[in-house]
Amino acid sequence: MRRLLTFTLSLLALGLSANAAEPIKVGEYASLTGKEATFGQSSHKGTVLAIEEANAAGGVLGRPLQLVAEDNQSKPGESGTIATKLITREKVVALLGEVASSRSIEAAIVAQRYRIPLISPSSTNPKVTEIGDYIFRVCFIDPFQGTALAKFAHGHLKAKRVAIVTSVSSAYSVGLAKYFREQFLADGGTIVLEQKYAEGDKDFKAQLTAIKATAPDAIFVPGYYTEAALICKQARDLGLTIPLFGGDGWEAPELISIGGAAVEGTYYSTHYSPESPSPAVKDFIKRFQARWSGETPDAMAALGYDSALVLVDAIRRAGTTEPAKLRDAIAATRNLEGVSGRTTIDAQRNASKPAVIVEVRNGSFRFVQAVEP
Ligand code: PHE
Repeated sequence: MRRLLTFTLSLLALGLSANAAEPIKVGEYASLTGKEATFGQSSHKGTVLAIEEANAAGGVLGRPLQLVAEDNQSKPGESGTIATKLITREKVVALLGEVASSRSIEAAIVAQRYRIPLISPSSTNPKVTEIGDYIFRVCFIDPFQGTALAKFAHGHLKAKRVAIVTSVSSAYSVGLAKYFREQFLADGGTIVLEQKYAEGDKDFKAQLTAIKATAPDAIFVPGYYTEAALICKQARDLGLTIPLFGGDGWEAPELISIGGAAVEGTYYSTHYSPESPSPAVKDFIKRFQARWSGETPDAMAALGYDSALVLVDAIRRAGTTEPAKLRDAIAATRNLEGVSGRTTIDAQRNASKPAVIVEVRNGSFRFVQAVEP
């Protein structure tokens, strides 16, 4: 009898410890392939590094973390389906992603419906977190980025007359164009012409010819790198030598590999520069390079890393993965030290961080200035 009891107890203990070591599943939806593959790849590598480091340090609540990542192929309409699958089938405790705002909005609608916390690393359109109280981000938002770019156009480029080329199928592009326009006009500038395109377009000659006729001082392209690089090329082909500039959507090695000489002397704003003298950044670059065959982390990698850091910290503080408590803990994040700066989640579930202006020079991205919030 006594033996049996000991045996049962040890079985129980075994069961308990197996249960205690059950991994905490974290979902990630990302553009790992397709038109914005570098966004998803970079963000994913940062996220993986943060999760692996947390596991190496003993996991959270005595349990290891398990990242379940799914590829939306950069396509519209995939992220909602993936979010549903990760929540209902994989039973993830939270979702991390995306970079592109339109895709974050799709997944956020699902996460909010199931009341599962979602943290976007780098989607900057205000609508993302407006979806509901379970939706967070660890980056600045476009009213700030648009204002910073308008000030840069006036101050650094000395531009008074600017033309804009907007991607009408991207929430990010439409929003960033709007916030830029508001500030640029408020500061006494003129928007000479606004032209439109859709994601995936390849020929921008008609828009650029119309812009050329208005003789602007500069062209603002609030889109993603594939189209931005083609726009720069075609503008140069048409004999436009004025500066072109964009937002964080320009950040990818492809801007240079597609744009070549045409993107020399262009500028964009982003979240982080690997040239930063911050010891936290220097150390992050070392760890990232050791993990990912020498690759230098970009803004998406830094923010992907920080999104996971915020989640891990919140699970630890919540002491549970129960969604409502985890949501409250994420909302209570204050001054969490990461690679993109300190994350404090505000009442609108956004973060506020400095922006960085980068110039393309001699085929590489060079830090120009930081813009404080
Ligand atoms: N901010 C962009 C968006 O919301 C995505 C992005 C972030 C692109 C960081 C590059 C770097 O769509």
